Amino acid sequence: MAENDKKIVFSGVQPSGNLTLGNYLGAIKNFSRFSEDYKTFYCVVDLHAITVRQVPAELRKRTYETLALYMACGLDPEKNTLFVQSHVPQHAELGWILDCYTMFGELSRMTQFKDKSAKNAQNINAGLFTYPALMAADILLYQTDIVPVGIDQKQHLELARDVAARFNLIYSDTFKIPEGYIPTDTMKIMSLQEPTAKMSKSDPNENAVIRILDSKDDVMRKFKRAVTDSETSVRYSEDKPGVSNLMTIYRAFTGKTFEEIEREFDGKGYGDFKLAVGEACADGLKDVRDEFARLMQDKAYLEAVMKKGAEEAYGYARRTMSKVRRKIGFVN
Ligand code: TRP
Repeated sequence: MAENDKKIVFSGVQPSGNLTLGNYLGAIKNFSRFSEDYKTFYCVVDLHAITVRQVPAELRKRTYETLALYMACGLDPEKNTLFVQSHVPQHAELGWILDCYTMFGELSRMTQFKDKSAKNAQNINAGLFTYPALMAADILLYQTDIVPVGIDQKQHLELARDVAARFNLIYSDTFKIPEGYIPTDTMKIMSLQEPTAKMSKSDPNENAVIRILDSKDDVMRKFKRAVTDSETSVRYSEDKPGVSNLMTIYRAFTGKTFEEIEREFDGKGYGDFKLAVGEACADGLKDVRDEFARLMQDKAYLEAVMKKGAEEAYGYARRTMSKVRRKIGFVN
């Protein structure tokens, strides 16, 4: 397909580090499937990150790490535009403009805002409140068709669609209305310690969470300690959330079906099963870990990727911005 006919995919990732197996299987691994048939933009959203207080050196380091991690997970910078949000000034520019077309009431209903302001009661800043308008700007700047995100971002995506439609209604067609691509819940990875809750980046219990960069020893130890149930049979069932979660993980790394997995462990106990899941997961993540380590040694290369990405993104963003400025009535 000619480059210009390709549909556009955009997604953003916070430079928050410590990504989990859930982030990997539920989101990042899906990103690279778009590389061939779509024009893809993956952005490290540092402007969003400062809605909560950051240590400057940490933020800088995590920005590199997030880029490296995405590349290590299979995003080739030749086939995807990988860039840092603050390197393309149109994000902030359109973010402000969209603030003026986003309603106080709409933003007040955002569950992420309510959660985050409960957690950061001492720093409920205006940026935290208008976060979704900036996210809408990210998406709409590129005339995006498809936005792959986790289910937790669905409400923000709906808002982006509403704001785009509102702007289009006032000024005539300006923005493409984006569609979400939200992976089905089969890829929802649950906590290893409390398998009815989602595996969460910020779980205080480290045994509950597999991190993409965990060592093999860590991975094996955490799976050994994973909560199962009082039976012994490896069987996928709603009333066996622990075992079912391990089966989901095993399936993701081996490509085996649930029936095949049940047969493989027929007559064997949970001990063998947990070891096998640990091995499959640790091996599956090994390449990611090695490649990440290699990339982090080469800052100059990462910087070259960011620079090229920002230049590509800038070209697209500028086109949309000049349209927006004209429609609103700004003098050129
Ligand atoms: N809010 C998203 C998250 O926390 C990150 C994000 C920012 C994003 N801008 C985006 C995701 C644009 C998709 C599209 O995960």
